[in-house]
Amino acid sequence: MRVLSGIQPSGKLHIGNYFGAMRQNLALQAEHEGFYFIADYHALTNSPRPADIRQWTLDVAMDYLALGLDPQKTVFWRQSDVPEVTELTWFFSCVTPKALLERCTTYKDKVAQGLSPNHGLFTYPVLQAADILIFKSNLVPVGADQKQHLEITRDIAQFFNNVYGQIFPLPKDHILESVAVVPGIDGRKMSKSYGNAIEIFESESSVKKKIMSIVTDSTPVESPKDPDKCNVFAMLKLFASPEEIKEWEQKYRRGGTGYGHVKKRLVELMHEFFRPYRHKRQELESNPDKVEKILLDGAARARAVARQTINEVREAVGFRGMKS
Ligand code: ADP
Ligand code: TRP
Repeated sequence: MRVLSGIQPSGKLHIGNYFGAMRQNLALQAEHEGFYFIADYHALTNSPRPADIRQWTLDVAMDYLALGLDPQKTVFWRQSDVPEVTELTWFFSCVTPKALLERCTTYKDKVAQGLSPNHGLFTYPVLQAADILIFKSNLVPVGADQKQHLEITRDIAQFFNNVYGQIFPLPKDHILESVAVVPGIDGRKMSKSYGNAIEIFESESSVKKKIMSIVTDSTPVESPKDPDKCNVFAMLKLFASPEEIKEWEQKYRRGGTGYGHVKKRLVELMHEFFRPYRHKRQELESNPDKVEKILLDGAARARAVARQTINEVREAVGFRGMKS
């Protein structure tokens, strides 16, 4: 089974990205054929500065490798090193109803936030469909917010297959419901773009500062509290053992525990969790050429597959195939 996932280099990766996406991808590479890439074409829809996108791409690569992505086994590359996906995007654009993209909630949300959208943002799901389908992927592990993009991908595959023949298998999404949304320090969904994120590899002192500033309500220490309404508890659940989670739950309900106590424990747990990976991250930082080589090797492997699909598609639509 081929498992594919992409992640945008739109800033430093945070614990929402880790629990919502990366952890699943890392676990899946053990049993499946993994195809993981850094979605820099997608990130361009946010109009980043060239120096930033270059740095963030490198950061994502180092984060993933430090956290356990095995480039011997898993194909790992930078999206823009396989330009065939942009060609497939065009073929798909010509079978995709505009109305389908107008219904897309990720697009509508960004517009509602006041962003003035470029055409790339509007056709973002078509590029995503091309990413997935060019490798004839079977399973796509993503966060819950990407479910609709997977539905659109299946729609596009069907539109294309209906017109040109059965070229694309329909991919399934794989969503870890239990950690559907990790809250940020302000209680909204943790996101690079909200300034409320805790980065996986930011300094331990900065992590501590952020955790201590997580927004809570003003229930006094001695009063009982509802753990399910607390952002600190929501984060603690990501790191603590089931027994410890149960203990904290009881402490909340009993009263007598302040949010400050829980925050301190959360700092310890998060440090313990990521500390083993920090060393590897530092080693990669001092060796960017090695990281670049891994990405280029991955691109060569990915491109061989992408070229085959593009040939098939070109011939199916009545164009000349490109053999070389
Ligand atoms: P961001 O919102 O920070 O820009 P992305 O949209 O690039 O994050 O998301 C990358 C991946 O991480 C996606 O699969 C997304 O579902 C997941 N993800 C991002 N933020 C969270 C979160 N707060 N909780 C759970 N998953 C998340
Ligand atoms: N849209 C995804 C996100 O923001 C990133 C992405 C791009 C992706 N292409 C993909 C995810 C293909 C899965 C498969 O998280």
